[in-house]
Amino acid sequence: MSDENAKLSIGDKSFDMPVYNGTIGPDVIDISKLYGQTGAFTYDPGFTSTASCESKITYIDGDEGTLLYRGYPIDQVAEHGDFLETCYLLLYGELPTQTQKADFDHRVTYHTMIHEQMARFFTGFRRDAHPMAVMVGVVGALSAFYHDSTDISDPYQRMVASVRMIAKMPTIAAMAYKYHIGQPFVYPRNDLDYSANFLHMCFSVPCAEYKVNPVLSRAMDRIFILHADHEQNASTSTVRLAGSSGANPFACIAAGIACLWGPAHGGANEAALSMLQEIGSVDRIPEYVKRAKDKDDPFRLMGFGHRVYKNYDPRAKIMQKTCHEVLAEVGIKDDPLLDVAMELERIALEDEYFIEKKLYPNIDFYSGITLKALGFPTTMFTVLFSVARTVGWIAQWKEMIEDPKQKIGRPRQLYTGATQRDYVPVSLRK
Ligand code: CMC
Repeated sequence: MSDENAKLSIGDKSFDMPVYNGTIGPDVIDISKLYGQTGAFTYDPGFTSTASCESKITYIDGDEGTLLYRGYPIDQVAEHGDFLETCYLLLYGELPTQTQKADFDHRVTYHTMIHEQMARFFTGFRRDAHPMAVMVGVVGALSAFYHDSTDISDPYQRMVASVRMIAKMPTIAAMAYKYHIGQPFVYPRNDLDYSANFLHMCFSVPCAEYKVNPVLSRAMDRIFILHADHEQNASTSTVRLAGSSGANPFACIAAGIACLWGPAHGGANEAALSMLQEIGSVDRIPEYVKRAKDKDDPFRLMGFGHRVYKNYDPRAKIMQKTCHEVLAEVGIKDDPLLDVAMELERIALEDEYFIEKKLYPNIDFYSGITLKALGFPTTMFTVLFSVARTVGWIAQWKEMIEDPKQKIGRPRQLYTGATQRDYVPVSLRK
């Protein structure tokens, strides 16, 4: 808390509200007693000025273009760490020692299989269902299979549920993919690391040997690290809100997946690639940039802009590098989509409209091209995001449950509907 108070005047009355300092980042004004003292609510659609919770997990400086996981810059974590180490860091707050890492890797590895009955669950879906629809359903159904880790008041059960979800998400995602393309499910392999195992479950088939390419599995791992957490974004806030009612962790993560699916959030990587494909060639870029700037045209440059970053998204830089590495490894020398992306980025970064509105490429701009080169269809892009973000959702959910100040999330509203009126029976209505 700081020595300062914020003062609010309404009419001739003045109210003091405490101001809190974080370790970094903007101060926050505590308005929790505002309604009790003044009878007024605050109004902040889209929560653009609202800190919904106290958190120690992830910090973003949108003006500087900085992203820290538990204090560590994202570029250092992505360069030197691996995804399971990142999971440990986000969940427990510190980087693991060698013994802690070996133990955590082992626990996750030995939870990757799912209840065999769940495999049959998939066949209830149409084959042409979007894999995200399947993810929402199957992840929600985990609570019907793992009853022994749904008691949120038990720290041991919370940890078991966390490990189970980190471990089983790649298996469920790979099964959603295999079901979608009509191939048999591939079981996890304990001799492979997290990302290599995921590629194996997605791309191997029983009739041929599949060797995981280490460059591609490292790229997959880096993509998972880059997407692991991102502060109080829409899906994380959804998970926290769902969890605030005491809902079990599997149900909360299913709610997060549903929110992530939207094109303004996790669905943007799919939308960004579709847009690059639609533009098709460098000569058509000016036409699309013009449309993006036209107030009467709903078209937006997908993969551009961010609610928090008003600078280059630090994840986008690493993703761009990873994209080049993957394209080189799979032997794509001249990818027209990459040409369009790089030229679009160059033009947009020099354009007054994008400069003035501080619209920079975000992580989704290059992730679509990378995932396509890895062999994934566009329908799987958001699914991969959900696999990576699961740890962030769980870490944030766990932090909330363990916060003694935690209350059910229950926002209020500015009501502008009809005032009280009397019911008219249908026979008398004109
Ligand atoms: N193309 C053209 N104009 C844009 C774009 C864009 N991609 N993004 C924002 N603008 C304009 C917008 O029209 C508005 O103009 P004005 O001030 O004249 O009304 C101004 O910039 C501010 O935009 P906003 O929609 O009020 O900003 P926001 O913070 O509500 O939206 C956003 C952020 C990410 C939803 C938005 O930038 C967007 O729709 N981008 C495209 C979708 C996308 O790439 N999303 C992925 C986000 S990163 C992944 C993740 O974290 O989930």
